[in-house]
Amino acid sequence: MKKIFGLAGSLREASFNRTILRTAAEAVPDTYDFEEFDPGVLPLYNDDLATEELLPDAVRKFRQKIENADGILIASPEYNYSITGVLKNALDWAATNKLGNVLSKKPIAIMGASKTVFGTARGQLHLRQVLQGANGDVMRKPEVYVRQAKTLLDSEEKLADERTISKINAFVNAFTDHIEEAG
Ligand code: FNR
Repeated sequence: MKKIFGLAGSLREASFNRTILRTAAEAVPDTYDFEEFDPGVLPLYNDDLATEELLPDAVRKFRQKIENADGILIASPEYNYSITGVLKNALDWAATNKLGNVLSKKPIAIMGASKTVFGTARGQLHLRQVLQGANGDVMRKPEVYVRQAKTLLDSEEKLADERTISKINAFVNAFTDHIEEAG
């Protein structure tokens, strides 16, 4: 069984990005396990703790899960034209050279949802730059920018817009191809 590790850049209970991550999880084929991680359990990055002896347990588990995953699927909001601090913190713990960069060469796909019309376009560009620094094997296309997300949900806050769902399905298919090609 291959594994996809899902990471949302928002801690909000009703987060649109967690919602689209769950839509993506439903599109993952049966030959894959999907696990969503809560980045809120990670402490703020502290280089003094980035040692085998002092590493917080939550960080150790997080890094192990990334190491064991065949692909990482990220859905993040755009905050102030960039990625969220929550996501950056998680990526720094994963990619620190002091412990070994577990994102290096890892297949990664990124998407995002916003309540605005911008659909996280500017945040995703920054995320690509950060993942370039982490040497991630980031899928270039297709891209998913979910705009005005609130208008696309049903009464149970589930993504209900068929056009967006089919875009996410195609995105997940392309990502599993990307993972297979990476071997
Ligand atoms: C935002 N939001 C936002 N939206 C956007 O399109 N461009 C931006 O630069 C920002 N900046 C920003 C900063 C901060 C601090 C907050 C809290 C919000 C709005 C953002 O798109 C919206 O809150 C999303 O709903 C957040 O995603 P989740 O939490 O629903 O996944």
